[in-house]
Amino acid sequence: MAETLTLPQGAGKVETYTALLPQIESVIAVTPDMIANMANVAAMLKAAFDFHWVGFYRTVEPGLLRLGPFQGPLACVDIPFTKGVCGKAARDQATIIVPDVEAFPGHIACSSLSKSEIVVPGVVNGETAFVLDLDSDRLDDFDAVDQEWLEKLVTILIKASN
Ligand code: SME
Repeated sequence: MAETLTLPQGAGKVETYTALLPQIESVIAVTPDMIANMANVAAMLKAAFDFHWVGFYRTVEPGLLRLGPFQGPLACVDIPFTKGVCGKAARDQATIIVPDVEAFPGHIACSSLSKSEIVVPGVVNGETAFVLDLDSDRLDDFDAVDQEWLEKLVTILIKASN
């Protein structure tokens, strides 16, 4: 397993995701342990893009997400499916891109520095098992390219882990 990431310098996000995903696949192939793999995925995304906050919330009981492995500042611990961007993505089983968090009704502000956000649900056997949440300190920092690659990443994570 590689101990450091090799990423193109000064590249755009497509090139960065293209270089990153095979390295993530190789790292998470070491174990099927979902929590260990979430921890390394969060670290690799943070290293590649330096987003403000990158991490996972796991479904720990029906309708309740709890903080999982992450990189970044302290975060809220419990998020019901009825609350926030994470809850909505978990409930709808669909990716949500929020260009301006202040314009999203019910957004949960764990950090006042977060300006935009993307949340991708991980669906296993028809149930939301977790969400992947990325926050940026810049407005409008996520787009369809992030959605496409992060959804691929979540699929890879689910296939590789238990
Ligand atoms: N903003 C999220 C809460 C999680 S933090 O951003 C880490 C939400 O509204 O669900």
